[in-house]
Amino acid sequence: MKRIKVNLDKQSSLSHEICIGHTILDRIGLVIAKGNLANRYTVITDSNVSALYGEEILGVLREVNLKADLIEFPAGEVSKNMDTVLTITRELINRGVDRSSALIALGGGVTGDITGFVSSIYMRSIPYIQVPTTLLAQVDSGIGGKTGIDLPEGKNLLGTFSQPRAIFIDLRFLETLPDDEFINGLSEVVKYGIIDDVELFTLLEGKSDAIRDRDPDILQTIVERSCKIKKGIVEIDEKDIGVRRFLNFGHTIGHAIEAASGYTVTHGNAVSMGMIATARISEKMKYLPSDDRVRIQQLVRAAGLADHVPTSISTEEIISKTRTDKKKEGDSIHFVLLKKIGTPFTNGSVEEALIRETIEELKK
Ligand SMILES: NC(=O)c1ccc[n+]([C@@H]2O[C@H](COP(=O)([O-])OP(=O)(O)OC[C@H]3O[C@@H](n4cnc5c(N)ncnc54)[C@H](O)[C@@H]3O)[C@@H](O)[C@H]2O)c1
Repeated sequence: MKRIKVNLDKQSSLSHEICIGHTILDRIGLVIAKGNLANRYTVITDSNVSALYGEEILGVLREVNLKADLIEFPAGEVSKNMDTVLTITRELINRGVDRSSALIALGGGVTGDITGFVSSIYMRSIPYIQVPTTLLAQVDSGIGGKTGIDLPEGKNLLGTFSQPRAIFIDLRFLETLPDDEFINGLSEVVKYGIIDDVELFTLLEGKSDAIRDRDPDILQTIVERSCKIKKGIVEIDEKDIGVRRFLNFGHTIGHAIEAASGYTVTHGNAVSMGMIATARISEKMKYLPSDDRVRIQQLVRAAGLADHVPTSISTEEIISKTRTDKKKEGDSIHFVLLKKIGTPFTNGSVEEALIRETIEELKK
């Protein structure tokens, strides 16, 4: 089991460890027991993950004499709302969960975001632990302490910054992950290669078949590298006011495509189209060499992700959605562009005409 330290604030308890390995679930009970974080632990999980791993995690916790129970909610983004938050909090109260308790998020990004949010507001906050089970959650949403829920007006509009006390990444969980969910998470790994790590990018280019076959050694390498990149960025900019924005590479246009499609295009595919569009914009603005843009497009395709925008999605709708991007400040969008693979920068002034032209090209 590899341990990576997330150093946030030396004065406080915000710093924590990410433990990564294959088949480590049986060992996390002991690590949690040694941490002595709480008198009881409530696992929050969705219906799919509960059926697969719910009993197992309870067994692991109870084996080391920890008091543990589980609350399940229906799987899917549709559950990431205030109703679920209220249902979970009322259940916690009914079961007598108090300020000496902690929550454990067992699941994908939806579970992590809801659990982190509940833990940050329940009885003015109790600790929580992340046990991410999707590739996306293991390399991205499980790290960084962003919590949240959706509103009818948009995604992630209510939330908090609240760091988990520990993150346990068991690569074995990925064995049961459906293909489309696995590929969804790969888009974030590709993004890390593009914004931060040329070596990771090159590894992804050379090993795309092994990755898609979920070779355990390669998975360990790419998940670990991705975690190090995310934690490094979070350490510098925990509250998302500076370099953490680089993590948004491809997401401004990606989120707009996702929303304009009525969420029929998956997040991973939308981000991939967004990354290719943004690489093209960077090339057209004479920042990014054409060779790098071609490599990005080829890697996205090799990873099994979408490299074209469906013609059925209105370009004007995509443009209009970029204007309502959550990361916008005043009238300017902090667009993350590229100088080369591994070197992103922010630029607030990308002409709408250039975005329009690029999206039209990606429909061909
Ligand atoms: N907090 C952050 O920093 C951050 C970052 C990125 C994304 N997010 C959020 O993450 C969410 C998406 O996360 P996600 O893609 O993990 O979705 P998800 O949590 O809905 O999981 C996807 C599906 O996989 C199932 N699943 C999970 N683990 C499984 C396993 N091991 N085996 C079989 N099935 C499994 C789930 O039940 C679900 O049906 C979005 O709500 C997004 O806003 C948050």
